[in-house]
Amino acid sequence: MTQRIAAKITGVAGYVPPRVVTNADMEKMVETTDEWIRTRTGIRERRFAEPGVASSHLGTEAAKKLLAAKGVRAEEIDMIVVATVTPDMLFPATACLIQDRLGAEKAWGFDLSAACSGFLYALTTGAQFVGAGTHKKVLVIGSDVMTSILDFKDRATCVLFGDGAGAVLLEAASDSEGIIDFAHDIDGSGGCNLYMPGGGSLNPPRRETVDKRMHYVHQEGQQVFKYAVRRMSELACQVLERNGLSSGDLALVVPHQANLRIIRAMQERLGVDDSKVMVNIDRYGNTTAATIPLGLVDAVEQKRLRKGDLVLLIAVGAGYTTGAILMRWAY
Ligand SMILES: CC(C)(COP(=O)(O)OP(=O)(O)OC[C@H]1O[C@@H](n2cnc3c(N)ncnc32)[C@H](O)[C@@H]1OP(=O)(O)O)[C@@H](O)C(=O)NCCC(=O)NCCS
Repeated sequence: MTQRIAAKITGVAGYVPPRVVTNADMEKMVETTDEWIRTRTGIRERRFAEPGVASSHLGTEAAKKLLAAKGVRAEEIDMIVVATVTPDMLFPATACLIQDRLGAEKAWGFDLSAACSGFLYALTTGAQFVGAGTHKKVLVIGSDVMTSILDFKDRATCVLFGDGAGAVLLEAASDSEGIIDFAHDIDGSGGCNLYMPGGGSLNPPRRETVDKRMHYVHQEGQQVFKYAVRRMSELACQVLERNGLSSGDLALVVPHQANLRIIRAMQERLGVDDSKVMVNIDRYGNTTAATIPLGLVDAVEQKRLRKGDLVLLIAVGAGYTTGAILMRWAY
């Protein structure tokens, strides 16, 4: 069964911190090489936030750019949904901090935790409120400061991630535009392959948890890799098939940017060539909840999206979480 939502993206904007960290810079931090990082992941450089800069700051900058570009006043925003696994603090929600900084005094909102699928979960959630007609303008933000949870003694994870934020505006859609379908699932049996054990109620911060390096990303890279390729391609095919579409109908696929080899393996299974797949992992690395909105920003800037285009957004993340959203681009 397809699940249309009468909501469309009417604007996108991104913000990445100014500090560029190249693979050569990473070589000075851990035992690695530019060649290994490039060939195993496709990453050439990423952005690192300065100490004291948190997810709310990046998210606020992205949202401000978006509102300015759209000529929308902060008071017109009804709701703010923030996807992040690196909230400024456990509470209050990052959405509250962003709402205050924007002056979006009429908006309510909350944070949502679905790791690399987080932006898609937030997009589906925000779109439901627009589709229901109860909310007219919803800001959906993906923002992560991954450097705050990276172990710079673990070369297999610290080279993969970067910091960034992206924001989209959701508004009501007519029949021929906006979100055509979405699919999400979670598979908690994969939780042990990508997680941060410390800092929550199970292992609250203590000297011992810090000594055991529990406040960092832990990952079984190969397990995550295989799951990501399989589920991203399965989910993409499922959503296309149930809408009577094939990959040839897609103008663009905007996948989560975790590893260029994951993206290429997924697109090969799907049968789409490079020209139809958005890739910017070379410049930003994996920015977790921000990769897809940052991909949309680049796609718009590079004029790879036109009104009426069929677009597929797709992601897999820690949890495991998965998401696919099919839409007709609306501007
Ligand atoms: C992490 C990842 C890049 C590792 O690539 P891989 O091909 O699986 O590499 P392996 O883990 O098998 O490691 C191969 C070798 O490279 C080494 N290595 C790991 N990181 C390295 C680095 N940064 N530089 C140099 N060598 C490195 C390993 O120690 C290993 O050496 P060994 O063979 O002597 O033991 C890959 O598994 C991956 O991208 N996984 C998915 C991660 C992901 O997408 N996470 C987010 C999901 S949303």
